[in-house]
Amino acid sequence: MEKEKTVVSAALTKAESYIAANKNKVNFRYRPRYHLTAEIGWINDPNGFCWYNGRIHEFFQYNPYDSVWGPVHWGHVVSDDMIKWERLPVALAPDMQYDDRFGCFSGSATVKDGKLFLMYTGVGKEELQQQCLAASDDGVNFVKFSENPVIGEDNVPDGASPKDFRDPFVYVRDGIYYCLVGTKCAGYGNIAMFRSDDLKNWSFVGYAFRQGKGQYVSEGVCECPSRAQFGDREVLFYSPQFLKPQAGKFRNIHSSVYIVGSFNYDTGEFVGGELQETDSGFDFYASQVTVLPDGRTVMTAWMQMWDRNIPSSADGWAGCMILPRELALKGDRLIQTPVREIKLYREGECAAEDIQLESEVRQLPAFYGDSSEISFTICKGTAKKSGIEFYRGGTHCTRLYYDATSDSIVLDRGCSGVDLKGKEQDEIYWVRSVAAPSDDSIDIRILLDNTTAEIFIGNGQSVLSANIYADATDDGVAFFAEGGTAEIKNAKKFTIRV
Ligand code: FRU
Repeated sequence: MEKEKTVVSAALTKAESYIAANKNKVNFRYRPRYHLTAEIGWINDPNGFCWYNGRIHEFFQYNPYDSVWGPVHWGHVVSDDMIKWERLPVALAPDMQYDDRFGCFSGSATVKDGKLFLMYTGVGKEELQQQCLAASDDGVNFVKFSENPVIGEDNVPDGASPKDFRDPFVYVRDGIYYCLVGTKCAGYGNIAMFRSDDLKNWSFVGYAFRQGKGQYVSEGVCECPSRAQFGDREVLFYSPQFLKPQAGKFRNIHSSVYIVGSFNYDTGEFVGGELQETDSGFDFYASQVTVLPDGRTVMTAWMQMWDRNIPSSADGWAGCMILPRELALKGDRLIQTPVREIKLYREGECAAEDIQLESEVRQLPAFYGDSSEISFTICKGTAKKSGIEFYRGGTHCTRLYYDATSDSIVLDRGCSGVDLKGKEQDEIYWVRSVAAPSDDSIDIRILLDNTTAEIFIGNGQSVLSANIYADATDDGVAFFAEGGTAEIKNAKKFTIRV
């Protein structure tokens, strides 16, 4: 591969011409301002999230030609701070026999000998899913490896389905490359581990889960595996399709989960604790982590969900990424915090006096805004429900509250605006909740960005992310208590301006 010349394929040129000719036709009324979105067309999973040559690169599943999923390219952006992104040319297009059936599915990036390598799933003839490589010397132009696929049909381990074998996540450990591939084995989701010395020749190590390992998997593919290291512990992330709801968790049709534990590098098995939800909101999938040179482990994810309507599709674009989060481990729990760089974009601080509420809704006119950060502490009183309403106006509002009856934090988008309903069987499809932190007061931090809300609970112990399609004028904020008293302390709001 090293010796090949960079020849931009006709499929890449076509994509660029299409984007240039059509991007001005897109209606951006619903577009978030400080979250990554496509300028035209459809995006899903983040891919190849990495640091390379002094900047942060993010690639993503991309169909430039339509605002629905379709022939999958890899879009490409770079950033210095994960808030503002600069678009680079589309990195990969379906143009080879091994990837031209459905395209270049998800994967990851790794740096070797100064080059940026992408490993992705080519979905080519007979819909086979095979792992392929592409490399770049400049972080802009990528050349596919002449000997692709590097993990082909012949390397699919026993029991796995060659048509459900995708989303390679590569990482280095003790000088050896490991690759996690999402699949199904004997009818259950699983993750296959491979190892290599050179990224080109891979051998199968084993499966992460013993067959049908009840609590961890479902009958769908464990899509988009990813992995992080915290001290001597590892966290395995993946997105199991069709995971069944359990005790109020995993209520989306497809979930994003993590397990804290460790891999056995001789057998590939992951031995860990409880299966936990990475984000308990509505719109979060396919998370991917990377480590920055300053030591931070950061995560991005698609802030959308399969099998649900996306109102912006009618406007010529669809799909958005979360604001990347810094990760830490506290006990067996992941702590997630918006990347600290967001603080550089804060403007116009507003603070409120402590607010005593008694069965009322108290508007806070100074807290209005749809591109903002709001933080406060709910001090539990006698109220049955106490919390905040945002994206509020006319007939709409989104509610986030402590529910004393269930001792949980509830996000309700039932009156938010455009109804977001997919194939879920759930009767109350507009509500999500997480167990409340055990303290008497609960810290909440909310990031709003036109059609998104990310809610960090208990300093990032839990997160609820959601798309909210309200009217442009629905930018009010109010605090409320129902059926008793509550107090809101330390309420603050900033406008976020990029
Ligand atoms: C997850 C996913 C991946 C696949 C990609 C295709 O959202 O289904 O498993 O690689 O999307 O776009």
